Amino acid sequence: MAVWDATSVIILKRDKGVLPDDAIRWFIDAYTNGTVSHEQAAALVMAVFLNGLTPGELSVWTEAMIQSGDRIDHTALGRITVDKHSTGGVGDKVSLILCPLVAASSKEVAVPQLAGRGLGHTGGTIDKMEAIPGWRPELSAEKMRTTLREVGAMIASASTNIAPADKLLYALRDTTGTVASIPLIASSIMSKKIAGGTKNLVLDVKVGRGAFMTNLPDARQLAETMVGIGQRAGVNTVALLTRMDNPLGSMVGNTVEVDESVAVLGGVADSRSQDLIDLTLALADEMLSLCGIKADPAEVLASGAATETWQAMVLAQGGDPGADRPSASSVSDFAASAAGFVTEINALAVGIASMRLGAGRARKEDAVSFGAGIELLKKPGDPVQKGEPVLRLLADDPSRFGPAIEALHAAVTIGADPPEHDSVVIERVG
Ligand code: URA
Repeated sequence: MAVWDATSVIILKRDKGVLPDDAIRWFIDAYTNGTVSHEQAAALVMAVFLNGLTPGELSVWTEAMIQSGDRIDHTALGRITVDKHSTGGVGDKVSLILCPLVAASSKEVAVPQLAGRGLGHTGGTIDKMEAIPGWRPELSAEKMRTTLREVGAMIASASTNIAPADKLLYALRDTTGTVASIPLIASSIMSKKIAGGTKNLVLDVKVGRGAFMTNLPDARQLAETMVGIGQRAGVNTVALLTRMDNPLGSMVGNTVEVDESVAVLGGVADSRSQDLIDLTLALADEMLSLCGIKADPAEVLASGAATETWQAMVLAQGGDPGADRPSASSVSDFAASAAGFVTEINALAVGIASMRLGAGRARKEDAVSFGAGIELLKKPGDPVQKGEPVLRLLADDPSRFGPAIEALHAAVTIGADPPEHDSVVIERVG
């Protein structure tokens, strides 16, 4: 076996070479154990971002990330495991509703969701769940098993030893402009999901202004790449390509996204959450049918049964589902510049503004403000008067409003007619 050093691997990829299997395995292992520095890993990741990976390199890269840590085995659970992963969006709180909904739809399934923190302008499920007082994301293997057996679903942080190479690379990519790369996203998501032990997986691949993939061909290629990795690893995988041009639902942030999810679960959300509900039900249908289960998640949602599962999930992880969640101390409204119909609310601009308000991180070591975020008072298609508030900005520190408003300056488009209504799911891959 050849002996590798970091600089040689970086130069080979920088010069558009194909990395030998042992070079990839050595690099991922050496970065995980600290022999390769962050600077060197950042250089290789940038070279991969610019020059890509061949399908063969991608398989070995993903396998090396899986082997950097533990692999969970849920076979003794006595339930069919099914999970969902999104490539990241703005206002995407689907997991908070979907996990309890799928578990409440059938006692035969379990949803062992390992989730992450915010990346770039997109929010992270763990950051949102941490807005619930007492809730903690780390679960021992034993606690995971009992929660899945008794409740049927959990949302936990990938333990430090599930694909630890991805933990390091994910944080590095977030701060080095290397997130939006098909091989890097595909290997990041699929290494965690395969190591997490699910047997069935539905991928929500976002496409549009607020997604890492801004056009359909790239999103389709990402979806096909991930479905291929999953199938080869023995995980029954399908993907839905879904729209991420406008934020999903009515809330963007942490506490406010939990609030909206609880309202959807309780059947009291208003029409601004309709796109969120449509997407959640489409994903729930896919998850249940992958497991061969006949159930109607729309009926289950309407019955209120998923709220009970949600509460049990929160309690199982130390959270108090009824406790007040942290809220922002300052509010500022962003008004319409003209009268007409809202035709567009740019998801990328809203994601950046929400991050600047404190809901996300500008640097990986930053803490998030749970109360910060943005409420969409109007959604595309709504009529609006000039000067009427369209967005409500929430922050703990009023000095954050200026930079957020700067990000939003061209975010809201108003036209004479309402836009065409596009369904949130574009197509299915797999
Ligand atoms: N989600 C992930 O888990 N990884 C990525 O690289 C992007 C989104």
